[in-house]
Amino acid sequence: MKPFIAPSILSADFAKLGQEVNAVLEAGADIIHFDVMDNRFVPNLTIGPMVCQSLRDYGVKAPIDVHLMAEPVDNLILDFSKAGANYISFHPEASRHVHRSLKLIRENDCKAGLVFSPATPLTWLEHLIDDIDLILIMSVNPGFGGQSFIESSLKKISMTRDIIDGSGHNIRLEVDGGVKINNIQKIAAAGADTFVAGSAIFNSDDYKKTITAMKAEIQAAKK
Ligand code: DX5
Ligand code: ZN
Repeated sequence: MKPFIAPSILSADFAKLGQEVNAVLEAGADIIHFDVMDNRFVPNLTIGPMVCQSLRDYGVKAPIDVHLMAEPVDNLILDFSKAGANYISFHPEASRHVHRSLKLIRENDCKAGLVFSPATPLTWLEHLIDDIDLILIMSVNPGFGGQSFIESSLKKISMTRDIIDGSGHNIRLEVDGGVKINNIQKIAAAGADTFVAGSAIFNSDDYKKTITAMKAEIQAAKK
């Protein structure tokens, strides 16, 4: 699967979000990671479907990867699918009926993702693997950008890689939290193919240089 760099707009300058998104896309980003926080599921509050729609109206054509850190999820799934999302992911703890929510995402023509916080066991996948297009392994606790990568996530990523390979399905394996130029190679080596990076990209002086360096590190993991 082609590796994707997914800048998290959580660390972008919200006062000029459209320009920031275009800038990372011009710099080589593949998809835009869109963090939705509700001050309930996580202790922070960010953006909703209207902002997703605004990016589409601004002319953003790239896939938008919505990461819901909000509860409940079903209404948000409907709203984000209408607002131009391509991937919608949620945490299993945030839905009363996880299978129904996954189905709802696909029924609304989006790719369905399930997100695993550091303490969330992969056993959720046992009965859901056929209904998933993307698995997001969080390598920090959800809620804030700029946190440090939790090293034990590497083992969880490789366990997830084995589950995906064993399933025979075409499922993306995304990693989110503390991803930097200096650790992306080992994250790729553990089996990830989709790399969320917020502060590492948006806090850098040169987006293109940062994304190019990340891609080179991912390639190096393949050798
Ligand atoms: C954290 C968010 C992440 C965050 C990543 O709850 O899901 O997407 O923006 O930020 P960095 O890359 O700075 O850890
Ligand atoms: Zn995220």
